[in-house]
Amino acid sequence: MALKLSRRVERIEISPTMKISQLAIEMKARGENLIDLSVGEPDFPTPENIKEEGINSIKNNFTKYTINSGIIELRRAISEKFKREHNLDYKPEEIIVSSGAKQSIFNTIMSLVDDDDEVIIPSPYYVSYPHMVSLANGKSIIIETKEENGFKITSELLSQAITSKTKLLILCNPSNPTGTAYSKKELEELIPVLEENDFYILSDEIYEKLVYDDFKFISIASLSEKIKNKTVIINGHSKSYSMTGWRIGYAAGPIEIIKAMNKIQSHSTSNASSISQRAALAALLGPQDYVEFSRNEFQKRRDILYNELTSINGIKCYKPQGAFYLFPNVSFYFGKHSGNITINNSFDLALYLLNQAKVAVVPGSVFGAEGYIRLSYSTSVENLIEGAKRIKEALQRLVS
Ligand SMILES: Cc1ncc(COP(=O)(O)O)c(C=O)c1O
Repeated sequence: MALKLSRRVERIEISPTMKISQLAIEMKARGENLIDLSVGEPDFPTPENIKEEGINSIKNNFTKYTINSGIIELRRAISEKFKREHNLDYKPEEIIVSSGAKQSIFNTIMSLVDDDDEVIIPSPYYVSYPHMVSLANGKSIIIETKEENGFKITSELLSQAITSKTKLLILCNPSNPTGTAYSKKELEELIPVLEENDFYILSDEIYEKLVYDDFKFISIASLSEKIKNKTVIINGHSKSYSMTGWRIGYAAGPIEIIKAMNKIQSHSTSNASSISQRAALAALLGPQDYVEFSRNEFQKRRDILYNELTSINGIKCYKPQGAFYLFPNVSFYFGKHSGNITINNSFDLALYLLNQAKVAVVPGSVFGAEGYIRLSYSTSVENLIEGAKRIKEALQRLVS
């Protein structure tokens, strides 16, 4: 029988950031001296107290199924975190713990989006959003944001994208890939449009702890009761506690949506790993010095990489408030060439830097933003300086 995959799976493709990572892994395996600025995870180890709790959970045989939505102690601790940090009231039953924030996003989209429903996604976007919308048979409506506006949507841009089919807006704040974060004032400007119209909001807040220069992160759900009642907040431990491999994410929102997500999760992956749930609880209840340490480190690195990059001829870069990425505009180099290599787009440039400079970056096109590349500063200062030097030298070899 000839293999015929579902139309659903034919519509999507493997995460393109993983393609670059794969090439980078292969180069490293060949022993090449590669500087990897394509990574999407903190380079610090998971803090000791969290690891200890994971080990203890195994030793104490906390290794069986848990309730689908996550152990009550963890959901209580998450509920308390929302109250303490954002003055948001979520009961434990309004919270679901998943295997990574990604699963919480997927469950939200699968719970809300029907055939042909429209989902508004500002670009540059986190690569998985449109693919998940496509898996749910929905339609992504991309709002192109501008570098001059700090890659943020405005109420005008949002209003123009709304139709009678709009079901959901996905806001990534702080953003992967740009690192941009919305101030309270910028979020407040969106309130009338959000309150007046009949759609939900998925607020991906996974980078909330990584904001710099005294920037104060505000959760959109805390702006008004009306907005809270139509928002699903996504968060998790991957970026704040350097726990990407433990796979702990969570969602908080209106009870009916959380119940629907629970149904989906109960028939797909059931509960997140019991061991990871205990470790995640230790992360929330234990000392928070790692969070502050990593924030300070990332801020320092952001400044170093930013200064290095913006000293390169032709590169413009928005200085972001959060996450651990820079998203410079590299379109100055399009149309230029070195030997028989011509750079026509961000993918060409990423490939050129990989092969000629031995630096891995991610092309902006995978985030819906041609003309840019994403660089992660989740690596040592030494690597950042050497990486920027190599990029500069390789770019200098490109001529008109
Ligand atoms: C914006 C954003 N949301 C969600 C995720 C997924 O997080 P997790 O590893 O917890 O599934 C990522 C990971 O890179 C991300 O950048």
